[in-house]
Amino acid sequence: MAKVALVTGGSRGIGAAISKGLKEAGYTVAANYAGNDEAANQFKSETGIPVYKWSVADYEACAAGVKQVESDLGPIDVLVNNAGITRDAMFHKMTPQQWQEVISTNLNGVFNMTHPVWNGMRERKYGRVIVISSVNGQKGQMGQVNYSASKAGDLGFVRALAQEGARAGITVNAICPGYIGTDMVRAIDEKVLKERILPQIPVGRLGEPEEIAACVVFLAGDKAAFMTGATLSPNGGQFFS
Ligand code: CAA
Repeated sequence: MAKVALVTGGSRGIGAAISKGLKEAGYTVAANYAGNDEAANQFKSETGIPVYKWSVADYEACAAGVKQVESDLGPIDVLVNNAGITRDAMFHKMTPQQWQEVISTNLNGVFNMTHPVWNGMRERKYGRVIVISSVNGQKGQMGQVNYSASKAGDLGFVRALAQEGARAGITVNAICPGYIGTDMVRAIDEKVLKERILPQIPVGRLGEPEEIAACVVFLAGDKAAFMTGATLSPNGGQFFS
């Protein structure tokens, strides 16, 4: 039987490419999303992948969402924690709300989603948890103290949980994408993107969402069984970790 994969933030940007990549690789896929109904419905009709709406920042909603997906599709074998937001501002201008929103989604969201699937994976002695962190969680980024902190937190989460999951056949890994051509990156001021960011990328271009999806498909597969607590860094050479 096909393995079941749940992708958070799975109907747009990198998440949409991950959902499609996993489907092409033979998984039964569910895509979670938080807000954009129009994009989610379009994604569903284009791909045939079912979409489920809840916020990863809300623990109870995550527990209920996981229950729903499992009753529709079967136990979740692969969880891809992809949902993430930015609220960029220089630290001296950053509001407590901008800090909280980013931590709630990007860091608490990873706990909120992984916790409800964890016991099932332990009982079945199989699981793949993949967390989409960021190059900016590795190196830090001006204008993103909140985001960098959340994404660095994700890496600590992965490295600790990998040690707990190992004996239960569960791998837990991170992917740290560099700057990928999605709405999130296109929202950056064009001058900042062209003059400050692109020159820092030796490959000389933004990444493609499919280049991140390929990493996810690898980590989700049986051949990645010996890789856990690891970080893949598809970033065009911007940062070596
Ligand atoms: N790299 C290098 N320099 C940067 C920079 C960056 N990413 N972002 C801003 N700067 C520089 C600016 O060029 C500017 O320099 P000068 O004063 O020499 O001109 C200085 O920092 C201040 O920037 P702004 O004038 O733009 O300040 P602001 O208060 O108007 O705006 C900001 C601040 C909202 C943070 C804006 O600069 C910005 O959006 N920067 C981009 C931040 C960024 O890289 N976000 C990544 C989003 S994509 C993502 O997060 C996905 C991922 O995982 C990689």
